[in-house]
Amino acid sequence: MTHPAKHIAGMAPYALSKFDIPNGKRLISLSQNESMRAPSPMINDAIDRMINNGALYPDPEWTDLRSALAEVHGIDADAILCGTGSLDLIGRIAHVFAGPTRSILAPEHAYPFFRSAAEMSGARFDTAPEKNAVVDADTLLQNVRPDTGIIFIANPANPTGTRIPKRELQRLRKNLRDDILLVIDEAYGEFADHLDEPTFDMVSENTAVLRTLSKAYGMAGYRVGWGVFAPTIRAELQKVMNPNNIAYLSQVAAVAAITDQAYMRETCERTAEMAAAATHELSTVGFKVYESFTNFILIDLKTADHAISAETMLLSEGVVLRSQAGAGLPHCLRMTLGQQEDVSFAIEILKKWKQENPDA
Ligand SMILES: Cc1ncc(COP(=O)(O)O)c(C=O)c1O
Repeated sequence: MTHPAKHIAGMAPYALSKFDIPNGKRLISLSQNESMRAPSPMINDAIDRMINNGALYPDPEWTDLRSALAEVHGIDADAILCGTGSLDLIGRIAHVFAGPTRSILAPEHAYPFFRSAAEMSGARFDTAPEKNAVVDADTLLQNVRPDTGIIFIANPANPTGTRIPKRELQRLRKNLRDDILLVIDEAYGEFADHLDEPTFDMVSENTAVLRTLSKAYGMAGYRVGWGVFAPTIRAELQKVMNPNNIAYLSQVAAVAAITDQAYMRETCERTAEMAAAATHELSTVGFKVYESFTNFILIDLKTADHAISAETMLLSEGVVLRSQAGAGLPHCLRMTLGQQEDVSFAIEILKKWKQENPDA
């Protein structure tokens, strides 16, 4: 029998949401932070026009995709690398810049895939404590170890939904050892673009910024992520990236979606309105809801037992929210701000649960 590498044998597979709902119930998934609406209709025309051209491998250099991104963000197209979702880039970064002799640091309630990426690369995963679901530069700096190779920080963060200002990231970078790669994961960046200056000008030989089309552009199913990197980082990452990684139609669709900035911005505005309304409704009946700068909200049910009980009631009606035990928040449930009717239905069930559990 063959054996896997020791660090792979010891790791658990990445836990996606469980969709085991009762027979006969419609599955309502509010668990994966997918968009409240379909992507821009402009992608339909683009796909229709190009549908017969798929016999050849896709552009391995994502030329049109990089130009569209560069134009919209005022950055250099040559600095961009694209992945099959930003997950792909996170994994490659860990592979190249961490590995068995190094560790990866992230905030206490970080996106769980950062841990998976560390484990896949054989690196130890360390965390820095958060206060009220927010991390700060000083705490991260205090938790740097001699073998720290990478700091991953999602901003805005998942699953907390909270954010830190750019000046805090700059302070972190300024006080961090030069050999540590700081990766700012802006998967939800578009939802907070209006609140701060872009961070692309922080990109350097030891700082990278990641984004995705999965969230604000509503294109999770197309698997398109991208990052901005210095040439030295890019050269190393390209060695471990699979050639022709993003499917041809995904590239075509992504270019069309990026061109339709007005549609994406409207999605962000509608999402913010839904976040405010859902937060208000849940807070009014006594739930603690964290302030969110993303397309989901984090609901604090005080104890893990309460979270399990509310999750069970939701599941009995076909509604899947994401329990956050994996991110060190077993007392919280995260609700994606998906279709309005689904979100309203989930809120009604949570209100019913609250009535039955008034002390919670
Ligand atoms: C913080 C964060 N980073 C990255 C991703 C990965 O997104 P994708 O691979 O779809 O681009 C997610 C997805 O939920 C996320 O929440």
